[in-house]
Amino acid sequence: MITFSDFYNNKVQLSFQDHPFSKDPKHVLVICRHRGKWLLTKHKERGLEFPGGKVEPGEIANDAAVREVMEETGGVVTKLHYIGQYFVDGKKDYVIKNLYFAEVNELKEQPTYYETDGPVLLLEIPENVRFNSSYSFIMKDRIIEHGIGYITKNF
Ligand code: GTP
Repeated sequence: MITFSDFYNNKVQLSFQDHPFSKDPKHVLVICRHRGKWLLTKHKERGLEFPGGKVEPGEIANDAAVREVMEETGGVVTKLHYIGQYFVDGKKDYVIKNLYFAEVNELKEQPTYYETDGPVLLLEIPENVRFNSSYSFIMKDRIIEHGIGYITKNF
């Protein structure tokens, strides 16, 4: 288990085990690769981040991951790999998120990208995103570093 504080000083616990916090998590975050680049989206308020969001009622987390990638980037997920799960103690509320690695082979232009401006492809995630106002708070804690580290080692 890896424990650290996030951008808002909330305590975060990350584990690469099989669903350690909940078998039925309500949130997903999907680290995406497309043609040798990282595939992100630009959230209209939060800024650049990997696609993700809430699991809908009656939906399973894996399906939510594939849906969110399509909705926010137009990306077609060909392979979805569960990486781990993290728990954010948001003081008032807590959030449990499944973390995935998705291989995306095609970007299909969408009529809407919902609350985002659509796909953004990056060769590298810059090191100091913590101090970069273009990036979402979701990218500003150690989840991304550990997630990408895991992907680099295992895929
Ligand atoms: P809405 O119902 O869409 O308004 O969502 P919300 O703003 O209440 O956010 P959500 O339920 O998704 O998350 C609640 C709080 O958990 C957020 O305000 C964040 O502080 C925190 N949180 C959510 N997702 C993440 C994440 O991926 N990383 C970190 N570090 N914190 C998160």
